Amino acid sequence: MKVLSTRPEDLEMPLSGFSDYLTPVEHFFVRTHVYEPKVDMASWSLKVEGAVATPLTLSLDDLRKMPAHELIAVTECAGNGRGLYDPQVPGLQWTTGSIANARWRGVRLADVLRKAGVKSSGVETLFDGADVPLGTMQDFRRSITIKKALDENTLLAYEMNGAPIPQKHGFPLRVVVPGWASDSWVKWLTSINVLEKEWDGFWMKNAYRQPTHPVAPGTALTPDQMVPVTSLRVKSVIWSPVAGASVAPGSRLTIRGTAWAGDQGPVTGVQVSVDNGRTWRGADLARDQYTQFGWRQFQYEWVPRDAGYYTIMARANDANGNTQPFEPEWNPSGYGWNVASSVAVNVGGEPSRPAQSASAPPAGPGDFRSACLSCHEVNVITQQHLTRAQWDREITKMTNWGAQVKPEDRDRFLDYLFSNFGPGK
Ligand code: HEC
Repeated sequence: MKVLSTRPEDLEMPLSGFSDYLTPVEHFFVRTHVYEPKVDMASWSLKVEGAVATPLTLSLDDLRKMPAHELIAVTECAGNGRGLYDPQVPGLQWTTGSIANARWRGVRLADVLRKAGVKSSGVETLFDGADVPLGTMQDFRRSITIKKALDENTLLAYEMNGAPIPQKHGFPLRVVVPGWASDSWVKWLTSINVLEKEWDGFWMKNAYRQPTHPVAPGTALTPDQMVPVTSLRVKSVIWSPVAGASVAPGSRLTIRGTAWAGDQGPVTGVQVSVDNGRTWRGADLARDQYTQFGWRQFQYEWVPRDAGYYTIMARANDANGNTQPFEPEWNPSGYGWNVASSVAVNVGGEPSRPAQSASAPPAGPGDFRSACLSCHEVNVITQQHLTRAQWDREITKMTNWGAQVKPEDRDRFLDYLFSNFGPGK
């Protein structure tokens, strides 16, 4: 796994993970805003309350006695690909791997809501998990529309790939919202609240929002100019060959990739180009992987005749005719990256050498360690490449969450952060 943050833990699936149809737990991406909670099953229960006729307290056994449903679905972080946006935006710098495909088993959320007698006045369901916030940040909670909550595919899952949901992935119960980004897939679920108006907490009204239309790169937007992240976008990733590979002229090369879609899935086709997008041909999609919400692997055979430097591209489309753009659509939090995948290979030449890894940056000034590295390690900071104004906003955000920055230190921290982790650094 590619380690983005050691504490809280954020791990990205390597590119080779796309070669599995169902993602094994050792390659399953990990995204935690705070530390993973230890759930005590002796006291665990699920509360269902709010706009319902009969509030419920359910044990895992109660849930297991209800009719079980199973489906295969991709779970993808809204920020998958954030690290590819230019100008760069703050946040974990995911490239391709904050995604996994799994078989989920559990009960329909609709069945639980009906059992509680959900009222017609309900507009959203708000989910909370057992994780606890750090410092003064707000507790991570997310809501989804009542329409999506009552969808027959929305589950409360207790199994992932035929085993109890692993601790890191939400044991004992995780919300599964097929077609939507993972921020709605609340882990360690303990409560469901049916709301009669939209929830206005931090994690819906400030975080996980994006503009409805593309904006000029670098535009600053306020949360009310954006809407919550919901459906995933159709996307494909080429995972073999890898960028910079060397290929012998006249030899047969199988181009392999994986494609998926959101609410408007399934993926219905993938086009491949071996000449940097001039001409396109249909790839072969795995026939036994045709599901609405799971991913689908594809391949394309190519025999490059002449030596040269070739750009291979892939572009998927979904059942509603959506396809991938060729240019990024920048947004302030770096969500929804789904640019057509491209990989350059050298036919008849040398493989290109991977970039040298950078040397360690100098330690921060004064009390930087106690002020900035008490909740998380420095890797959260070193992966950013932000402007001075963006670093200034990060310091304000972290101070609001409880970082203790002495007034005389603020400018020194800002200078240190900008000069070591500025754009292009
Ligand atoms: C009270 C705990 C706490 C302290 C102290 C703290 N942070 Fe954070 N910080 C967090 C959490 C929690 C996250 C991750 C949020 C997430 O994953 O969504 C985070 C994330 C970040 C990120 C990633 C971008 C983002 O906004 O998510 C940066 C950069 C960062 N912190 C910088 C700093 C700096 C600089 C300081 C010192 C001024 C600091 N942090 C002090 C809790 C803290």
